[in-house]
Amino acid sequence: MTVSKTAVTAVPLHPLLAGRWSPRGLDTAHELTDVQLTALLEAARWAPSANNSQPWRFAVARRGTPEFAAVQEALAAGNQLWAHAASALVVVAAETAGPDGAPRPWAVYDTGQAVAHLSVQAEHEGLAVHQLGGFDRDRVAALLDLPAPVVPLVVLALGRRDEEAQLPEALAARERTARERLPLDTLLVPVPAGPAQD
Ligand SMILES: Cc1cc2nc3c(=O)[nH]c(=O)nc-3n(C[C@H](O)[C@H](O)[C@H](O)COP(=O)(O)O)c2cc1C
Repeated sequence: MTVSKTAVTAVPLHPLLAGRWSPRGLDTAHELTDVQLTALLEAARWAPSANNSQPWRFAVARRGTPEFAAVQEALAAGNQLWAHAASALVVVAAETAGPDGAPRPWAVYDTGQAVAHLSVQAEHEGLAVHQLGGFDRDRVAALLDLPAPVVPLVVLALGRRDEEAQLPEALAARERTARERLPLDTLLVPVPAGPAQD
């Protein structure tokens, strides 16, 4: 039985937002074109950031390369089960201090926002993005020889969704499960009225 993964919303959303989700079944035959990859990175590059500091950094490893194998081996075991089929694994890192050593308090926020833009562009390209926090950060930082203020945050499994992909049953079941979110009203924090004005 096919379950819709489209977001159920109180009012209509743009289809690129409503239709995005994080699949695990990816097409092992799919090759990411240079134009597609550049479009995703451009979407990230043009995200807003605090003081236009642009703290995001990306390391791209395409499937079939030793670099891909090295990143894949740093993933949590449960992620390795399916992320090997990604067309590319992209390490996303944040430069958390500026060149003068001054901390960048919004670096992680900004980098997440860049990935959000990338994920919408990916949806437009007919590609899937599955973000992975389950990986060995120290191992990836050492692999990429990242200097201390540059912190790996997520690995993106990029690829083309494949409904026929062979997955362990527990993961296959999750592909068939409807997506869920907290109700909108539970996200709203009331703004108290200020003190009465004379
Ligand atoms: C920062 C971050 C870390 C995540 N880490 C993992 C992960 O290690 N493994 C995994 O399978 N999914 C991971 N996910 C995917 C989430 O589980 C997924 O986005 C969430 O369940 C909502 O599903 P949806 O993206 O399909 O709407 C991660 C997502 C984010 C944003």
